[in-house]
Amino acid sequence: MARTDLPRFTVPSLTPEEGARTAVILQDRLNALNDLALTLKHIHWNVVGPHFIAVHEMLDPQVEAVRAMVDAVAERIATLGVPPRGTPGALVAERTWDDYSIGRAGAIEHLGALDTVYQGVISAHRAAAEETEEIDTVTGDLLVGHLHELELFHWFVRAHLESSGGALSTEGSTTEKGSAAQAGAKARSTGAKTKSAGGKK
Ligand SMILES: [Fe+2]
Repeated sequence: MARTDLPRFTVPSLTPEEGARTAVILQDRLNALNDLALTLKHIHWNVVGPHFIAVHEMLDPQVEAVRAMVDAVAERIATLGVPPRGTPGALVAERTWDDYSIGRAGAIEHLGALDTVYQGVISAHRAAAEETEEIDTVTGDLLVGHLHELELFHWFVRAHLESSGGALSTEGSTTEKGSAAQAGAKARSTGAKTKSAGGKK
């Protein structure tokens, strides 16, 4: 029986099966990037505390860049002959991860959680880039281009969590809440040490 999920046409030199497989990989990336853009705005609105403005303003260029990635991925899916699904309902139904789990919180807590978010998005993006490289180098190239920016943004986040010795306060954590708690605790203990060192003068 003929497959009904195959595109009637796809880009030259790919088979309909290859076009369909590439689109499936890209749909998952479309969901992840749409989710990331919304999560970054959610943090932009919910960050509080002394570092509010630095984090609030750092995030908007990331939102803009990620939205551009969303558009490029959706248009690549359409170019491959497959309709991209861009509605919130489709995103929630298809995603394999949970909603961002932190509401109003301090800058360091959100940055700790965002470290975990970027780890997840980048790891999956790299896996998608590797898989598409074999089927469709143009899609692979698109995803690698995103990784240049996503990994830079991840460094911006991690630079806030890094000690002068090069250790990350979120080291070993795999959950947003765990990373937020670890980053917050580390910042408080460093702050307390600085205070007591200052008090001795
Ligand atoms: Fe804003």
